[in-house]
Parts: sequence; structure tokens; C-alpha cells
Amino acid sequence: MYFSKISATGSCAPDKIVTNDDLSKIVDTNDEWIVSRSGIKRRHFSSGENASDLATGAAEEIIKRSGIDPLDIELIIVATVSADYTTPSTACLVQANIGAANAVAFDVGAACAGFMFGLSVADKYIKCGVYKNAIIIGTEVLSKYLDFNDRGTCVLFGDGAAGVLLERTEEQEGILCEEIGSDGFKAMALTKGFSPAGNVFNNVSCEADRSMKMDGKAIFDFATRSVPVSVKKLLEKSGRFTDEIDFVIPHQANSRIVEIISRKLKMPLDKFYMNMDEYGNTSSASIPLALNEMVEKGIIKKGSLCIFTGFGAGLTWGSMLVKF
Ligand code: COA
Repeated sequence: MYFSKISATGSCAPDKIVTNDDLSKIVDTNDEWIVSRSGIKRRHFSSGENASDLATGAAEEIIKRSGIDPLDIELIIVATVSADYTTPSTACLVQANIGAANAVAFDVGAACAGFMFGLSVADKYIKCGVYKNAIIIGTEVLSKYLDFNDRGTCVLFGDGAAGVLLERTEEQEGILCEEIGSDGFKAMALTKGFSPAGNVFNNVSCEADRSMKMDGKAIFDFATRSVPVSVKKLLEKSGRFTDEIDFVIPHQANSRIVEIISRKLKMPLDKFYMNMDEYGNTSSASIPLALNEMVEKGIIKKGSLCIFTGFGAGLTWGSMLVKF
């Protein structure tokens, strides 16, 4: 039986930093409100880099750190909801940029749980013996979709990319168990980029609406209810207990959400890694951005047992038990 282990991580964020004070110059908001409601202090915004540029930067870092020859990369999955193009996929753009001529490349869209869904797909390919390795990257340039007249939403999001190299192993390590799910019945709680079905033979508008729209309270309730349930199911499935877990790497949407999840799971808050103060909510990039930072700081060590848990538009969620 095969397992898939994370053998390298990498990230890439735009250099441009926008602080809460910077935002308060163009939006009716202030640092105190944003920090107290979300834990976010600043975010990185694109100076022109698109989702594929950031994803390529993350992939290049993964290649450099792992030493893998790009020609040996077998699968590239990019999770994004802010792709440069609807088609070609961002994964195909990354494939060409890094010279991974032998890889199969495609995108997955599951919003802020996108990295979890991408990891899940890649894990299956590896466990079935189809591929020996895969690069999975979450990348977002959400700044291009923000409505700066909607102060309840625009202050929360940022841009960035990060990912991992997943490799086949026969050791019982890497992705040990997962729990993922969707609830399309609540799809309208968080939307972005409506494209109407207008054409020259009907009277339907052709005008697309790019911006992100969110029912903040509905998402807050969803996250604080569904994530603890998902993590509990994951622990049950895997026969593990909370005190065996070294770290939880949650989707970096909001520190208040993470605090409630920690209370509901009766797990100490210091096991939950957070870096939304620096990046804001970067959707599918947020979990790998946090993971990469933990690896760089030496927090995650060989043998660390972690839970990744993400939630987002769709609605979607996903949790994974990962042994390093
Ligand atoms: N700056 C200052 N005031 C703001 C503001 C801002 N950026 N945004 C909203 N407000 C105001 C509101 O207008 C409201 O004022 P009022 O009482 O005079 O009407 C007040 O703050 C409270 O607004 P409310 O929407 O009730 O705030 P909240 O405590 O529910 O927090 C969110 C709003 C969005 C921070 C919160 O609902 C949340 O975190 N939701 C989850 C969002 C999320 O994580 N989404 C991504 C999921 S992947």
C-alpha cells in the first residue's frame, strides 16, 4: 500500500503590503475594528502579478528545496478561484513556466477549502499508484475581485500562493486520513464572479459581476459549526485523540473563528497556527502559506502529527490528518 508524504513546501506572496491604516484611507474602517473582528493587520496585494505568477513562484521554491527535476513532476494541481483565465487552467500555465513537460496539469475550484480538495485528489492518484509525485498549489489574487465599497468584506482578503510536493512512500506517513464535504444548499452565502447567460439571441444581460459578495454572519456560523464537526469526524475515523495532535493548521480566515473552533474541540489555542495577521484571508493559499511558514521556522519536525482544516465558499470544507 502506498501513502503520500509532503516532502517540500514553498510560497510566494506579492511584495506590496497594505496595512489596515492604508485601507482606512480609502474605506470607512479602522485598524481597531479589523484586528478585533478578524486578527488581520496587513495583507499582500498584487502589483500586477497574477495567480499564475504567484503559483509559479511557489512551484519554483518547491523545486529548489526538493531538488526535483521539473521533467520528473507527474501531476500539477492548482487550487484557485482567481485564475488569470477561465481557460487555460492556471496549472497548465505553471507547467509551462517551470518546464514540467511530462506532468498532467489541471485546476480545482473549492474556494478556501481548495487546497484540501487538491491534496485529496492528488493523494488518491498517488495511493492508487497512478503517479509517484504531485505538486499542489493554492494561489489567489483576490484583490482584483474586492469591492472597496463593501467594508465588511474587502478588509478581510489578500493575495498569495503556496504549495507542497507530495511524494509516494511505502511508510505509513503523510496523509493518513481525510474528511471532506460540501453543502451547495448554502451556496449563495459567499459568491464571486457571476456570469449571466446573455447572448445575441436572448434578452439576458451580458454584463458579468466580478466582485465578491459575502453574508459574513452566515459564513461565521458555518465555519464555527462545521469545522469542529469535521475535525471530530476525522479523529474518530483515524482512531486518534486530540492530545496526540501537535498542531492544527486552520484556514486563515479569522482569528475569532479559530478561537471558537479551539474551544469547541477542547484543544489549546497554542496548537492552532495563525498568520492571518500578515496575509489576511488568501483562500486556497492560506493553509499552505501557514504550513510553509511553520516549516521555515522549524516548528514542524519529522514525526509531527498535524491536522489541516479548511472551509469556504460552495460551501465546502475539508480536514486531513498529516504525519510529517
Ligand atoms: N470597519 C468598520 N466597521 C465595519 C466594517 C469595517 N470594515 N465592516 C462592518 N462594519 C460595521 C457594520 O456596518 C456594523 O455597523 P452597525 O452596527 O452600525 O450597522 C458593525 O460594524 C457590525 O457589523 P457586523 O457585520 O455585525 O460585524 P460582525 O461582528 O458580524 O463581523 C465579519 C463581520 C465579516 C468580520 C464577521 O461576520 C466574520 O468574520 N464573518 C466570517 C467571514 C469570513 O471569514 N469569510 C471568509 C470565509 S472563507
